[in-house]
Amino acid sequence: MKIVNTPEEVRKQVALWKKEGFSVGLVPTMGFLHEGHGSLIKKASEENDKVVVSVFVNPIQFGPSEDLASYPRDLKHDTELVSECGGDMIFSPSPSDMYCEDFCSFVDVENLTSGLCGAKRPGHFRGVCTVVTKLFNIVQPERAYFGQKDAQQLAVIKRMVRDLNVPVTIVPCPIVREADGLAKSSRNTYLSSEERKAAVILNKSLKKGLAALTSGERNAEVVKNIIKDTLNSEPLAKIDYVEIVDSSALAPVTNINSSILTAIAVYIGKTRLIDNFTFNL
Ligand code: PAF
Repeated sequence: MKIVNTPEEVRKQVALWKKEGFSVGLVPTMGFLHEGHGSLIKKASEENDKVVVSVFVNPIQFGPSEDLASYPRDLKHDTELVSECGGDMIFSPSPSDMYCEDFCSFVDVENLTSGLCGAKRPGHFRGVCTVVTKLFNIVQPERAYFGQKDAQQLAVIKRMVRDLNVPVTIVPCPIVREADGLAKSSRNTYLSSEERKAAVILNKSLKKGLAALTSGERNAEVVKNIIKDTLNSEPLAKIDYVEIVDSSALAPVTNINSSILTAIAVYIGKTRLIDNFTFNL
């Protein structure tokens, strides 16, 4: 399995593959890979001849008080997981390989980024869209794979690709969960054992919200309150947001009569975790 660090090396290898008629899939990640990433890589390798996994902790999508410096990294483990799951190449650039000193071009998706995590993390999606655009331009994949756990990120990237005619098919992949329902995340590693137990409250609260919807509740405020009350029953949980939005425009809804995304962000101790479900009417 090849590990390369510069955009030039990626381009050279991908050009050779394309010359041989191979299709290329891309799985963009920030590393510290877990089974959730593994499922993306496996899907990508089923659907493409060659799979590139990017491992890059993208500095421009972190706010000044966020966890850029402490974000977990383990390239050795990542390499093993990528090769077990059928990946062909890791692209692991340094920040200076991706951003030259006078870098000043960014990709901004409006509207969809004003609520949910966008409201809490100013500049985050500008950083995500910029790095994803760069990765698309460097790798030039036919398909790119994103997890549904980051539901807003997925919606924003789909919109960017549509609006800017980017020739990449975005493939959404289901959330992978631990046995007790906690969504897999590289940030779960920050949790102490007490916090880890408390973190199941995210999935529990969403299940209660979903149960209300399936039994016919259509008032978004009522469903949100069911979720909030469940979260508030856990002393270690502090709600960042609980929102119900239209699944494509991500605009808040009051009466549920279309496909919706229910998304939450919750602090367990100092660790901010997100989770969601979609409900299609
Ligand atoms: O979801 C992530 O891990 C990151 O936001 C992404 C898409 C790799 C961009 O840095």
